[in-house]
Amino acid sequence: MILQTARLILRPFQAEDIGRLAELMANSDFTRFSLGPYTRKQTETVLQKFLAWNKARLPSQFAVVLRDNESVLGYCGFLHHPELPEEVEIGYRLDATYWNRGLITEAACAVRDYAFLDFKLTRVISLIHPENIPSRRVAEKIGMTPEKEITFRGFPTTVFALSREQWLSDRGAR
Ligand SMILES: CC(C)(COP(=O)(O)OP(=O)(O)OC[C@H]1O[C@@H](n2cnc3c(N)ncnc32)[C@H](O)[C@@H]1OP(=O)(O)O)[C@@H](O)C(=O)NCCC(=O)NCCS
Repeated sequence: MILQTARLILRPFQAEDIGRLAELMANSDFTRFSLGPYTRKQTETVLQKFLAWNKARLPSQFAVVLRDNESVLGYCGFLHHPELPEEVEIGYRLDATYWNRGLITEAACAVRDYAFLDFKLTRVISLIHPENIPSRRVAEKIGMTPEKEITFRGFPTTVFALSREQWLSDRGAR
């Protein structure tokens, strides 16, 4: 499945994306508020996870590409965590050159709608460090609200959530 927005194409990752993804994941801005920067080997593991979800037809990550430039600028899509088996996360990272242009909000809106329309999920969450202001803003702009504070993989984390009911009600109000 390929998602399109005004400025972006969101396409499934392919094995051939390893070079560009490793370049992005080696950058400390790109991996802000994560365990990164990642080695190429660590990025290979991440990419294998995305490809396995694609193969199993599970919600997965998309490569974020500008419509007028085929280079991969980041990712936006779904994550599954063994620690939270009932949840599906919307996660995102973008090349810092392109921050604050509304690109990830645009991508995450398309991903959110895909979650509810095509995968019929009952809710989606985002796990965000309390100090990660840009990420919190994106979560708010796609309709999520902070639900609770947890410790996730050793880090203080705010669980942002959006239920299918809330999404439907927000759509009705627009
Ligand atoms: C989080 C991230 C993907 C956002 O991507 P983006 O395309 O720049 O996001 P958008 O432009 O759609 O929205 C960013 C919002 O944060 C706001 N923002 C950014 N820095 C800010 C700051 N220091 N203080 C207050 N607001 C800030 C922007 O103004 C914008 O909000 P607005 O539209 O209300 O003005 C990007 O910052 C990133 O890749 N960060 C590193 C990785 C990361 O933290 N990923 C999320 C892990 S949970």
